[in-house]
Amino acid sequence: MLKEEWAEKRQLVEAALQKELRKNPAVNETLAASMQYSLMAGGKRLRPVLLMAAAETVGGHGEDYLPMACAIEMIHTYSLIHDDLPAMDNDDYRRGKLTNHKVYGAGMATLAGDALLTMAFEVMLRQAGASAATLLAVVNEMSIAAGPYGMVGGQAIDLESENQQIDMKRLRQMHMGKTGALFRAAIRSGALLAGASNEALTALTRYAEQFGLAFQITDDILDVTGDEATIGKPVGSDVRNHKSTYVTLTSLPEARRLAQEAVDEASAALAPFGGKAVFLRELVQYLVSRDQ
Ligand code: IPE
Ligand code: IPE
Ligand code: MG
Ligand code: MG
Ligand code: MG
Repeated sequence: MLKEEWAEKRQLVEAALQKELRKNPAVNETLAASMQYSLMAGGKRLRPVLLMAAAETVGGHGEDYLPMACAIEMIHTYSLIHDDLPAMDNDDYRRGKLTNHKVYGAGMATLAGDALLTMAFEVMLRQAGASAATLLAVVNEMSIAAGPYGMVGGQAIDLESENQQIDMKRLRQMHMGKTGALFRAAIRSGALLAGASNEALTALTRYAEQFGLAFQITDDILDVTGDEATIGKPVGSDVRNHKSTYVTLTSLPEARRLAQEAVDEASAALAPFGGKAVFLRELVQYLVSRDQ
């Protein structure tokens, strides 16, 4: 059930993303190829799927919000391209393929990231079926999540924490930023577009924050225990870069326990939605046991 619904939503996202890229025949060919290379390289498409699922949890129709769903996947893909750059994590594989800079060079990879981020905002504004006020609220949500208060801010803590012993509070702050912010924005945007009540929005926000935490702790664990071919990116990247992660700051068993704790809190936040939140509940539970 979880897998089928996920696959169904993912297919809608794949098709919509491809359509967005085709709309721009005037784009420089190398830049277009570089954007296409990373955006269409697969990936779990979790953020767009969560956006659609959140809309459905509050009674909306997820498919109506595909432009916004595509936009957040563009922002996420940009963050991955830049994260892999030699000046950041210096990784060679992503989504089972060579990283963007390995194929197109660091300069073009930087531009492909810039282009995806900027284009995301253009795509967002094409979202129909919401009032101008709602659309503005969602775009505000997205820009805050992507920037210095959110993802980029978390990445800055990540960079600064290399070769350092940071405390758990700072680690959590880093995770909430670099990973949590986009998950939070995805879920809140889906809910806002579908007209969620304040109570529903608060509950889904709590779910999203715990989801993000559980997800990044698991990502840290997979960086140690994962199988490269399955996760599609290098194992041991964090150790090589002397990163602060849940595993390096605690231990594997403790990281697993903390991930499970976040899953339990995420599930608890869904209580008000009863049967309507089956997908979100199953997804967060699956995530900590994933191998990719
Ligand atoms: C990887 O995100 C980067 C993190 C925030 C940990 P995903 O694991 O969602 O990557 P894709 O989109 O499936 O490639
Ligand atoms: C980066 O975290 C999260 C982003 C904002 C891209 P990681 O550096 O741990 O992500 P992976 O493991 O390379 O996917
Ligand atoms: Mg990184
Ligand atoms: Mg990385
Ligand atoms: Mg990682």
